[in-house]
Amino acid sequence: MLHLKLETDPRWVTIVESNIEEILTDHAWCEQKAATNAITIITNNSEHEELVTELIKLAQEELEHFQMVHDIIKKRGYTLGRERKDHYVNQLYKFMNKGGSRQQSFVDRLLFSAMIEARSCERFKLLSQRIKDKELSKFYHDLMISEAGHYTTFITFARKYGKGIDVDKRWKELVAFEGELIKSYGKSETIHG
Ligand SMILES: [Fe+2]
Ligand SMILES: [Fe+2]
Repeated sequence: MLHLKLETDPRWVTIVESNIEEILTDHAWCEQKAATNAITIITNNSEHEELVTELIKLAQEELEHFQMVHDIIKKRGYTLGRERKDHYVNQLYKFMNKGGSRQQSFVDRLLFSAMIEARSCERFKLLSQRIKDKELSKFYHDLMISEAGHYTTFITFARKYGKGIDVDKRWKELVAFEGELIKSYGKSETIHG
């Protein structure tokens, strides 16, 4: 369904398992960033009623995810670490067209968001299948379903608001760009690392 170019090497899960505290902190901040991203899209495109309605819901779900990860951190006696940078997302950000029309930037932002959801979903799926920790396996399975729904939301809106733009072509370009980018990842205990 996600049509990503490259699947994550399952050995990444072994790296994650070596430092659960770090993956939880990184993951918590991913959810915070996802909520913030949805709110930024609303702020810049407030005239689209359906988009605002759906992204308010999505931002609330991301905040709930943030809370769920934080609850696990507390339950395990860890402390949420300082905000982590997401190098993958920062590099993916470079794909976006910043000099084009407002509509082009809008569509790119939606596709960028869809891509992060797709890769997160792929990572959560792998974790749910391979991580030995039963609680985390179930947790990541549930999140995988939720993030797959978010992917669909962003892709659907890109098509809806991208009238006159070849959205499928742009998506294919992003899939190719991400496929190259992700080759240098899968080596650290972060969600997109
Ligand atoms: Fe999430
Ligand atoms: Fe999400």
